[in-house]
Formats: sequence, structure tokens, C-alpha cells
Amino acid sequence: MTTDLFARFPQARASREEMAEGAVLLRGFARDFETELIAALRTVVAQAPFRRMFTPGGHQMSVAMTNCGSSGWVTDRTGYRYASADPETGKPWPAMPPVLCEVAVRAADRAGFPGFAPDVCLINRYVPGAKMSLHQDKDELDFGAPIVSVSLGLSAIFMFGGLKRSDKPRRFRLEHGDVAVWGGPSRLFFHGVAPLAEGDHPVMGPQRLNLTFRKIG
Ligand code: SIN
Ligand code: FE2
Repeated sequence: MTTDLFARFPQARASREEMAEGAVLLRGFARDFETELIAALRTVVAQAPFRRMFTPGGHQMSVAMTNCGSSGWVTDRTGYRYASADPETGKPWPAMPPVLCEVAVRAADRAGFPGFAPDVCLINRYVPGAKMSLHQDKDELDFGAPIVSVSLGLSAIFMFGGLKRSDKPRRFRLEHGDVAVWGGPSRLFFHGVAPLAEGDHPVMGPQRLNLTFRKIG
């Protein structure tokens, strides 16, 4: 993995805000890498385009998704799972570009989770009105590793609850370049995203991208 990028930007901007025990918000952490991140995302999406998948209950998700890494998160009528090939093309998911991996590893480290080794990056695209209902990230085998979540583009309200669906979520506004990391005691906390408000981001246009890094095995 290259460290040149971080040699150029030794001081990634980041204030550290605690969302819960084990859950940290690094404001602006990814901002210095936006150009490289966006270029890398373009190459991923050219090979594995965004698509709106169906839940096992038969609802089409409002968020469009794709993946990179050795596996990808998918959902269809048969359930949620990780798959090593893109069901749309039958080909392996694009490899995780080094800059994505590096930002995630550095953010995890800054949040108190050294040695994070993500094997999957789920890429979510929200247009105005798109949302993600409260859920737990629990399709992974390894709950010892944190979740690292990078926001780009329009800001969104992130809801971060507790171990029970009924726990009242706290609301955090996630802006372009913010990175949320949750692990340890909050690894299985319910979370979601409120419907995206209309807007036009100067760099990303009328959308929000979210990169969710996970270690599944
Ligand atoms: C997710 O939980 O997969 C998405 C979170 C986000 O979009 O910020
Ligand atoms: Fe999630």
C-alpha cells in the first residue's frame, strides 16, 4: 500500500467527536483526498455501475449501490449477503483502489482501531429523497473490526441509535469529507440516513456518496 499520498498531506484535517462509546466522527478527515478519491471512484463505477437493488421483502432500495474489494454486499429476493462476483456482470468486483483503502485504514487508526484491513467497500449513492432505514451492519463474520464510513457530496442526517431498534437515535449532520467510525461496543448499533434534502454540491453535484468499509472475514 502506498503512503506517498499521506506523505504529501501529513496532517489530514480532523476534529474528533464522540458519537457513542467506540463511535467517532472525524470531521473533514477525507477532504484532503477528495480529488484522488473521486478519480478512483470513477474507475470503479465504470466497471461496476450503480444499481438499485431489491430487499428480500421485494422493495427496491432508494439508494443505488456498487462495491469494490474482494467481495461486495448485495441484496435480492433471496436475502442479504456478500458475493465475490457482481451479479449484474458475473465478473469479480473491481479491486479496492489503494487510496480508498488508505483513507479508511488511517481513519480507523485515528479513531482508535489500529490495523484495520477492509476487504469490502460498499458505495452508496443518494439522490434527493433517498434514505436508508435504521439497520445493523451484521452480515460480516468479524465484528472485531470497525465500520468506516466516508461521506462525499451533499450533507445528510445520520441517525445513530443503540443495540436495540427502539433505542432513540441521535442525529449527526455528515458533510463532504466527514468520516464516521464505529466499532467495539457500538459495532452493532442501529444506524440509518434520513431522506436526503435537495441540493447541488459544488464538487459532487446533486448527490451524496457514502463509502462503507468493512472487514467481512
Ligand atoms: C450505511 O449504513 O450503509 C450507509 C450509511 C451512510 O450512508 O452514511
Ligand atoms: Fe450500515
